[in-house]
Amino acid sequence: MTERSTRAWLTPEIRQQAEQLIARMSLDEKVGQMTQYDWGFNPINPETGVSVRDLLRDEIRQGRVGSIFNLSGAEEANELQRLIAEHTEHRIPLLIGRDVIHGYKTVFPIPLAQASAWNPALAYRTAEAASRESMADGVAWVFAPMIDVSRDPRWGRIAESIGEDPLLTSQYSRAWVEGSQVADAPGQATASCPKHYAGYGLAEAGRDYNTVDLSDRELRDVILPPFREAVEAGALSIMASFNEINGIPACANEYLLKTILRDEWGFEGIVASDYNALQELIVHGVAGSEEEACELAVLAGCDMDMHSGFYMRHLPKLVREGRVPASVVDTSVLRILAVKIKLGLLEQPFVEVPSVEAAEAARVQFTALAREAAQQSIVLLRNEAQVLPLQKSGSSIAVIGPFAHNRKDPLGCWAFDGKPEDVVSLLDGIRHAVGSSAAVHYAEGCSVSVDTMAASGLTEANIEQVLEAARQSDVVVLALGESLEMSGESRSRTSLDLPGAQRQLVEAVAALGKPIVAVLMSGRPLALPWLEQYASAIMQAWHLGVQSGNAIADVLFGDYNPSGRLPVTVPRSVGQVPIYYYRKKTGRPPGGVYSSYYIDSTTEPLYPFGYGLSYTAFQYSAITVSDASIGVAGKSSVSVTVTNTGDTAGTEIVQCYIRDEVASVTQPLKKLIGFCRLQLAPGESGYAAFEIGERQLAILDKDMKRTVEPGRFTIWVGPNASSGDAVSIVVE
Ligand code: BGC
Repeated sequence: MTERSTRAWLTPEIRQQAEQLIARMSLDEKVGQMTQYDWGFNPINPETGVSVRDLLRDEIRQGRVGSIFNLSGAEEANELQRLIAEHTEHRIPLLIGRDVIHGYKTVFPIPLAQASAWNPALAYRTAEAASRESMADGVAWVFAPMIDVSRDPRWGRIAESIGEDPLLTSQYSRAWVEGSQVADAPGQATASCPKHYAGYGLAEAGRDYNTVDLSDRELRDVILPPFREAVEAGALSIMASFNEINGIPACANEYLLKTILRDEWGFEGIVASDYNALQELIVHGVAGSEEEACELAVLAGCDMDMHSGFYMRHLPKLVREGRVPASVVDTSVLRILAVKIKLGLLEQPFVEVPSVEAAEAARVQFTALAREAAQQSIVLLRNEAQVLPLQKSGSSIAVIGPFAHNRKDPLGCWAFDGKPEDVVSLLDGIRHAVGSSAAVHYAEGCSVSVDTMAASGLTEANIEQVLEAARQSDVVVLALGESLEMSGESRSRTSLDLPGAQRQLVEAVAALGKPIVAVLMSGRPLALPWLEQYASAIMQAWHLGVQSGNAIADVLFGDYNPSGRLPVTVPRSVGQVPIYYYRKKTGRPPGGVYSSYYIDSTTEPLYPFGYGLSYTAFQYSAITVSDASIGVAGKSSVSVTVTNTGDTAGTEIVQCYIRDEVASVTQPLKKLIGFCRLQLAPGESGYAAFEIGERQLAILDKDMKRTVEPGRFTIWVGPNASSGDAVSIVVE
């Protein structure tokens, strides 16, 4: 069996330094380290005029706060660190956190978009850039990456995820953690916080925070691998999720927080609760009081209490009464101090504001990276009659729709620090690209927001403007989708259609018979089978961040040949959800009456996992297996030749899937076991090889042991989960 190892960072020196501090700390000071508050939450008491921040400043001076999040900039960070340095005995700096989900000031594509690049190395670079930018503001703890495997596009937080696949998510998880934590000099280092541990993405009916009930097998096969990868990559913290899982809310779940995380994986970092999650233990109905909630969480292994204040209010008393052993507190404090020491905060708690020149140089570099990431995030779903790429010169282009000249929504969810004025709208991107060589006509048509989601009408005047713009043009680019507040936390939807009057807009334009290119800017995959009837080309552009318009224009005009592939299956309807490629065969696979099918719809998705088109064509040939028969501990490899048969350079994402044909436990029809990027010039051939060994072949057998079972395995190599050439390997 493959040995897995966790990157060791808690050295004997760090441990000793932490222990020496702990030996000198009072119980209140220790619990203070386990306490974190939201600095952004600042109501003012109308009677006393005292604000929450005033109270928090007092708590900080008394050494009763270990971490703060949602600060706004280096000056504020330094001010609070100064309170510690000047007023507390042990001078243990605050660990300052922030949701740096897809960039900080330079906003990169949402994680689901970055996942579409199938390029973890690129995510490493965006994560590193985001951490460097946030650390310049004193944020040494980024609450990222979000690595919840998500199979339900109704769930708004699918936008923050890497999609539906455990392997793809695991590879991003490692890259994101390593990128976020790459800097290690004091004053520069940041800690990542993979979240939400665990199962949060499988909330029933895609409704955020809803119940999660799943087997240990599914938990270990699908949900946990990305977290394990994060731990092995050296993640310094992990955030427990809000949800209950099999009856026990995650932040009070000893099985998750101790048995798996500590005992099985050897995790040594901080487990933080999610926002106010200790208080929610009462709402969940597993704790009858604040004290009980506190006791449950701390004994289960939750080191830090995000924002409820329960630890500070009750933990010292619980320890004094013997309900919580003092050693439990010491262990949690050790982890927290160890992370602070590892980050160099004790040596360098303050941040230096960078010079204007240095800040500007970083900004230029990060903006270029934002464009590169956005280009790679775009997935071309349809391109009938090669309507794309568009000609730059001599043409006339209509750019229409609520997202055509919109500089807010491409920022996507969780982009508090990004500014709409930094965003390049699609209209501006197209104008920059064509200069004066093509005529560009713009009309908004309708606006889209949560408040007008159900609005059914377009005004006559708006339709007239839209038609006028379209009539003057050879081609219509329609910018459709969702506004930024329709995805992210607490943004579940029951419909996967275009909100508001957008369908009417499409139909009105289509009546003119001009070729339509639909650009979908959304935080989730949308189920739009009807759109194919109207649009010759469809591009899934997600929320792409500050360089949105430039990157989309790059793809529209062929300056960048699209290479993105779907990290999620796109359903035809909400009724098919959850739909994902990693599914079981069942005893009655779809195929007529009394099979596992629908009487009113196909079971096939609109677009399969891994799908995406290019402006060139790739041909797969010569699929070969190095050893067609191996022992249970043996190794083989599968290789393929891919040729660019078109006349444009392009990148193919070669994907490799496996099926264990007969096993002691039912297995998915296909499981992604590897992928690689091949950049090929016209006529060029490339070679992709995938290793087949224990890691790819093993399953959790009926006794939950990781085992390679003898038998036949089918292996596909191809462009997506629904196609590819197959070979077999027999394990003897
Ligand atoms: C979210 C977390 C986030 C935290 C702090 C919670 O509501 O679930 O993802 O890190 O807030 O903002």
